[in-house]
Amino acid sequence: MSTAALSLGDVLRRASEHLGKTSETGRLDAELLLAHTLGRHRIELYTDFDRPLSSQELDAYRELVARRARHEPVAYILGEWGFRRLTLNVDRRALIPRPETEIVVERALLHLRGLDTPAVLDVGTGTGAIALAIADEHPGARVTAIDVSAEAVALARENAARTGLAVELLEHDVAGGLPGGPYDLVVSNPPYVEPSDLATLMPDVRDYEPHVALVGDRLPEVIARAALDVLRPGGHLVLEVGDGQALATAATLGGLGYADVKTTPDLTGRDRVVEGRRG
Ligand SMILES: C[S@@+](CC[C@H](N)C(=O)[O-])C[C@H]1O[C@@H](n2cnc3c(N)ncnc32)[C@H](O)[C@@H]1O
Repeated sequence: MSTAALSLGDVLRRASEHLGKTSETGRLDAELLLAHTLGRHRIELYTDFDRPLSSQELDAYRELVARRARHEPVAYILGEWGFRRLTLNVDRRALIPRPETEIVVERALLHLRGLDTPAVLDVGTGTGAIALAIADEHPGARVTAIDVSAEAVALARENAARTGLAVELLEHDVAGGLPGGPYDLVVSNPPYVEPSDLATLMPDVRDYEPHVALVGDRLPEVIARAALDVLRPGGHLVLEVGDGQALATAATLGGLGYADVKTTPDLTGRDRVVEGRRG
């Protein structure tokens, strides 16, 4: 970008083109980063296309655009990201919450309907997204959340403080079984990338998000097995799975004795949520 008297519209167009070479969402990225630089909402940019940018604003924006061009996710650059009704702190300590995980929360909330003070366990909580969204949208839920990563637990604690929501957060490895109980619901978005597939991931994910959040060794099965020890009879397990893993995970749940095993598609029609009821 040249610096001579550039308007907001010029800058946005150039940044979009530049980011479009490395990102499928170049225009959106450019807008989010510019809004962040100027301390404005993205929508406000559209009424201000002719406004000239100061050299300080340009320098600050250029720095963020360069980070994005090196594949750093927009969410990490912004330092916060929306998940359902919440805005959460996000950084490299934990996975960025994804839209498909909002459907996991949707399914979880359905199973809590009619329960005044259900006990809920979120396994592998990361930013705390699922646990906090459930606490937010089902007031009365008593939510516990665990993660093997001390850094993720620290970030989830920041998010509990930021949102003012009460969730019990524990550093805990599911390999040692699940803590507490009995629970009405166990929910998890576990790491589900096969170790051999790590190299095939987009650099935005592979080079920035924590590998402990991405790669797991049959964790959906480990969690489904362990959940049987802590779920109340009639309690539900809700799991997010990778694209193409729903059928096998549903079969695993069936084999472990879960009843009413069901899969739910994400917004693109891919089955990404598997659930069952402890009989
Ligand atoms: C895919 S991320 C999900 C984060 C968050 N729940 C979300 O949906 O955005 C998986 C999380 O599981 C945690 N994890 C990985 N292995 C674990 C284990 N053995 N026990 C507990 N948590 C684990 C990771 O640290 C990571 O935070």
